[in-house]
Amino acid sequence: MSLLELKNISKIYGELKALDNVSVHVDQGEWVAIMGPSGSGKSTMMNIIGCMDKPSLGEVLLDGVDISKESSRALTNIRRDKIGLIFQQFHMVNYLTAVENIMVSQYYHSMPDEKEALEALERVGLRDRAHHLPSQLSGGEQQRVCVARALINHPELILADEPTGNLDETNENIVLNLFSQLHKEGTTLIVVTHDPEVAEAAQRTIVLEHGRVAREVINEGFIEGRQYV
Ligand SMILES: Nc1ncnc2c1ncn2[C@@H]1O[C@H](COP(=O)(O)OP(=O)(O)OP(=O)(O)O)[C@@H](O)[C@H]1O
Ligand SMILES: [Mg+2]
Repeated sequence: MSLLELKNISKIYGELKALDNVSVHVDQGEWVAIMGPSGSGKSTMMNIIGCMDKPSLGEVLLDGVDISKESSRALTNIRRDKIGLIFQQFHMVNYLTAVENIMVSQYYHSMPDEKEALEALERVGLRDRAHHLPSQLSGGEQQRVCVARALINHPELILADEPTGNLDETNENIVLNLFSQLHKEGTTLIVVTHDPEVAEAAQRTIVLEHGRVAREVINEGFIEGRQYV
């Protein structure tokens, strides 16, 4: 069953087509990687799927609802209820600690729960950094806080834009293991990456070039529940 369908979407900025007639479908429970050179439209596409932006042309069906036609209020609700976001730029609240940043996400969804927020930090290996401000965390640590924040409300769809871009191998493996487990539990994952190893963890890779789908590659070697060490 399709969770997401992009139907002939374009995003046009003046002369530039950041996305140019892109059609993509993602099944419920699928793990998809998005690759492509810098400027090829990956973040633009993720922002549209994540209900933070609208296409200039085309339809975006999420769970059968055309989100390109929804009001910004409705989009906020859809995002809150269904989607966990890991941004390329972290977007942490800079005067709140790591654990508080996660609790903000719980607050907007339902109710803050510090114990659960601390457990989420534990899962990304950051329990001992819980009370640090973003400015006191390394880039890789901030990125892992963002992963914990995206998982906290058990979203059905995780959108991750370069979630391992700042991570060393050990921490990249922590994130891939989390993704692998979430996928096994039925979560749909869409992951933008420049890293072939991160793409190979997914079931399928969609390659964008100049705002168009250049090709799609099925990962025949995909292993459900694979452990990265
Ligand atoms: N708000 C905007 N106004 C004008 N042009 C934009 C805007 N946002 C993005 N673009 C342009 O759209 C194109 C696609 O940008 P996008 O951020 O989607 O690329 P990307 O594939 O995510 O690249 P990267 O790998 O560097 O993150 C780029 O040429 C960019 O300059
Ligand atoms: Mg980008």
